[in-house]
Amino acid sequence: MSKSVKTFLKHAAKDYYNRTVNPPVVRASTIIFKSMQDLRKTQNRQMKNPLGGNFDYGRKGTSTTYILQNILKKLEESYHVFLTPTGFGSIFLAVFSILRPGDEILVSDSLYSPTRILTEDYLKEYKIKVKFYNPRNLDTLKKEISKNSKLILVENPGSNTFEFQDLSKILSIAKKNKLFTAIDNTWGTPYLFKPIKLGFDMSIVSATKYYSGHSDVMGGSLAVNKKVFKMVEKANDVIGMRLSPDDAYLIIRGIRTLDVRLEKHEKNARILGNFLSKNKRIQVLYPLKKNSLNYKMWKKYYFGGSGLMGLKIIAKNKNSITKFVNSLKLFGHGYSWGGFESLALHQGNREKGKRKFLNLKKNEHLVRLHIGLEDPKDLIDDLKKSLKFIK
Ligand SMILES: Cc1ncc(COP(=O)(O)O)c(C=O)c1O
Repeated sequence: MSKSVKTFLKHAAKDYYNRTVNPPVVRASTIIFKSMQDLRKTQNRQMKNPLGGNFDYGRKGTSTTYILQNILKKLEESYHVFLTPTGFGSIFLAVFSILRPGDEILVSDSLYSPTRILTEDYLKEYKIKVKFYNPRNLDTLKKEISKNSKLILVENPGSNTFEFQDLSKILSIAKKNKLFTAIDNTWGTPYLFKPIKLGFDMSIVSATKYYSGHSDVMGGSLAVNKKVFKMVEKANDVIGMRLSPDDAYLIIRGIRTLDVRLEKHEKNARILGNFLSKNKRIQVLYPLKKNSLNYKMWKKYYFGGSGLMGLKIIAKNKNSITKFVNSLKLFGHGYSWGGFESLALHQGNREKGKRKFLNLKKNEHLVRLHIGLEDPKDLIDDLKKSLKFIK
């Protein structure tokens, strides 16, 4: 019987042996076998079928992590899914699986800041060159490709500025130039957009965010197609990435309600986005306006939206933006997002210093809001009394 994703998520982790609707947490380093022959048989099975869950050591996984891998594999419609201790771990794994000294990586300019540090600063030490392209102008991507180019790493939408890119166009550029492709799909998750199905080789999600949904666990996933599976498997083995079974359990628990939460996040985000759009100082960076390029690019690829948005605010006084953010009572001030609660961050000058293609005037400021699952009326009341501080 083919079930909808919503139904699949609710039933995905039943344990028929224990007759529980949630799986047991199987913690292990050593996995014991009846005999050496039995151990070798499992290893042979694993060599023949690396996707079959034949574990011989805890670093390879246990039945708990295997269940999460299978849920994600189905959700991503991918060949395999690797689990990592953090979302950033998945980004690292994707990059180091493909690139070698002398190679070049092309990345969108609006990358998540630690990914920027990894690609711009750290890869240099491995003699890997990074080139940035303008997510709003893919000619800049075409222009940067050379004979050493190997991988395009996209983040969609971009961090803090939330540009939605023309992903098919990126894929056709990659295909023409025989480049590998990876995308950070944390904003939408494969519930809203399936990168592997569209043609990306690798799809990264920080499980810390919407998969978990409760701000109490960290994890990451890297879904791959058959083409890159062996490369990622090899890198994963030597780097030693592993998600703990306890964390996998929490992510399994969270992901059962991914659909319900994302739909409510989107509903609340649209209510708040429409409210904020009425303020003349504010441009809401969320796919709201049907005639905008962002909306068109979002609509082309996504089934829905999540709760993360940006605000571009015009103000002469930068401190007044901090005051606005500080005075919010229902929005917490802190990193990460994707939990049930609302969050607000003033991005300050972080973006201005780094980005090549950032089009931000002196009196324009970026604020990131994560719209949680609270009653949107309360969130609007909170915003109403704080917006007056913007000068
Ligand atoms: C877009 C994006 N990708 C990846 C990450 C990294 O995920 P994690 O915090 O799980 O390492 C983040 C974290 O904020 C993020 O915003």
